[in-house]
Amino acid sequence: METKLQKLDARLSACVAYLIPGRTVADVGCDHGKLTAHLAQKGFFVIGTDINKKPLQVAKSTCSAMGCMEQVSLRLGDGLQPLQPLEAEQIVIAGVSAETILHILDDAGWIRTQGIRLVLCPATKIPLLRQGLCHRGFLVLDETPVVVSGRCYTVICAEYTAETWEPTQEFCLIGKTATKPFASELRDDTAIKLEKQLRGMAKESDEYEQAKELLEWLRQLPLPQAQHEEQEQ
Ligand SMILES: C[S@@+](CC[C@H](N)C(=O)[O-])C[C@H]1O[C@@H](n2cnc3c(N)ncnc32)[C@H](O)[C@@H]1O
Repeated sequence: METKLQKLDARLSACVAYLIPGRTVADVGCDHGKLTAHLAQKGFFVIGTDINKKPLQVAKSTCSAMGCMEQVSLRLGDGLQPLQPLEAEQIVIAGVSAETILHILDDAGWIRTQGIRLVLCPATKIPLLRQGLCHRGFLVLDETPVVVSGRCYTVICAEYTAETWEPTQEFCLIGKTATKPFASELRDDTAIKLEKQLRGMAKESDEYEQAKELLEWLRQLPLPQAQHEEQEQ
């Protein structure tokens, strides 16, 4: 009997598009298990981890219902701690903060290996994540901005190069989104957040002046308007 593919929102669909068939995937913070099940149904071997027991039970129910438990290993724990070094070649972390993503990466030294692919969709602080990746020797290969239920996200595909560098603040703000659909929506969202930060800074400080200049730059950045309807929820 043909099994129906688990339906994903635009964030998780964009994550799937960056994964290389045939390579084991870790789905960190797998929660409802939708991505885990979807990937398993597509033939990936997936290690789903979650720091909480309840979501892991939901993930188990999802994978059982979709008939793909044989392609899945579900494990309780923080980030990549439940995995052996190099047990997965590609790692998806979606729906948690940039700080949590960076903490997960820092706690698993083995991911700093050439060929390991990261596919990341932070729930907050996208610029901080881009900067953190550069500081840790990951090269941002590509990004896909998406809009789900009126909220803007980006999915970042990065690989380890061992070369660390200090990215420009402009790069941290827009990354590799400039030519993509929904770049202008994401830019506007980033500008609103930067404006909020600006309001918390002491006026006439160097930090304030710098942030003000960046905000001007960001607002004036010519980006293509999205020609698309809002993506599927
Ligand atoms: C909002 S859900 C995101 C689920 C799914 N990845 C998505 O994007 O739709 C976040 C999940 O990450 C889990 N989580 C949070 N911090 C984690 C950590 N350090 N390690 C593993 N899982 C974590 C939470 O328990 C929760 O199930």
